[in-house]
Amino acid sequence: MVTMDKIVALTKRRGFVFPTSEIYGGLGSTYDYGPYGVALRRNIKDAWWHAMVISRDDIVGLDSAILQHPRTWEASGHLESFTDPLVDCRACGQRFRADQLEDVQCPQKPSVHPGEGPNCDLTEARQFNLMLETSLGPVRDAGSIVYLRPETAQGIFANFKNVLQTSRRKPPFGIAQIGKSFRNEITTKQFIFRTREFEQMEMEFFVPPDQAEEWFLYWLDERMRWYVDLGLSQDHLRLRPHEPDELSHYSSGTSDIEYLFPTGWQELEGIANRGDYDLRQHAQYSGEKLEYFDQATGERYVPHVIEPAAGVDRAMLAFLVDAYDEDEQEGEKRTVLRLHPRLAPIKVAVLPLVRRDGQPELAHEVHDALRPLMASEYDEGGSIGRRYRRQDEIGTPWAVTIDHESLENRTVTVRDRDSLAQDRVAIDGLPEFLQRGLAGTG
Ligand code: GAP
Repeated sequence: MVTMDKIVALTKRRGFVFPTSEIYGGLGSTYDYGPYGVALRRNIKDAWWHAMVISRDDIVGLDSAILQHPRTWEASGHLESFTDPLVDCRACGQRFRADQLEDVQCPQKPSVHPGEGPNCDLTEARQFNLMLETSLGPVRDAGSIVYLRPETAQGIFANFKNVLQTSRRKPPFGIAQIGKSFRNEITTKQFIFRTREFEQMEMEFFVPPDQAEEWFLYWLDERMRWYVDLGLSQDHLRLRPHEPDELSHYSSGTSDIEYLFPTGWQELEGIANRGDYDLRQHAQYSGEKLEYFDQATGERYVPHVIEPAAGVDRAMLAFLVDAYDEDEQEGEKRTVLRLHPRLAPIKVAVLPLVRRDGQPELAHEVHDALRPLMASEYDEGGSIGRRYRRQDEIGTPWAVTIDHESLENRTVTVRDRDSLAQDRVAIDGLPEFLQRGLAGTG
């Protein structure tokens, strides 16, 4: 069974995820992504960008700054409402989320929750703002304070007019953005599920007010399908509508796509009907008119917004968990990541069977022919069995082996990660063979 510990160990061992500043003892709940991690994340983001922007006429892209005018966060409601209730324990000096005491252990007596130990002495709950602050310019005073954005969405709302005027779009249309966000989360500790620096993939879809419900349902379906198409098991996904008391300050309806993580069902992505809250707030605080005027009908209105908001790190964790498998091959235990080929960091490994007889040279030739087409890795170190297992652990769908027959008739074997079938394929036909596999028609 897959556990979070196994995922943490594999991702460290194989260079997907490292604790940040490890040589200095780490920095709470912050992670760095190693060579295969960065490739997996890039593939996730590319798949999202392709589904949201490249393959559609009604969505355009944006990359707004992480630092924004501080009034942004007054208008959005984050300064006032983006808070968690916190309690301090006077006995151990630790701070906890008042609404999540059941999920954590008392540091002095781990068998009980904070507040339940003999020495626990909790304060009343206080609201704690989750935005991270920094200051701009040489003088650090109240006027220089800016915030690291806690979501990418507000940069989209602030640019609504710019994009509307320059992209020649009309509602319904959307603006998509991928980028870093920051939250001073109190409860982290679930590996990359909840961190203080993370990356979001958000899209704000602006619609005529009377079409909001229809588009909300449309995006629930579309987003669910995206995860399934990229290999997440349907049984591990569900939609959960928010209860009225859970709704964010801006939302008139939200449903979460939840995934069955090893720690239980938890939010993977939120899809919210934000109504006209954001555009009206920014119009009021900036004095700009943020509305749409339809010249054909003479109609003027503030569009409503449907927002699918996903996390790169959380999606990465879900894809890793779902792909993780252990089986036995010829009496030996094997760990394998059954990642969708589109997401796999490396698509093909090129392996000479032995390091002599011209095999490395031919393997390099094959590798050089493949690398313009897909992520290919050359590996000649260690036994062939060890090299296969290494590629299985990083989720490489195909391994091409060059053996003595390859030098005689220019054919290679292609080993399939999942079925373990070995096909003999002509070197000339290899790019097409693998590309068919990548396109899902192999
Ligand atoms: N603009 C709406 C918004 O930000 P959210 O539900 O707070 O909504 C959207 O965040 C997604 O961003 C979440 O579903 C999750 O995937 C990701 N996310 C949010 N906070 C995160 C954190 N602290 N660490 C990692 N991912 C996070």
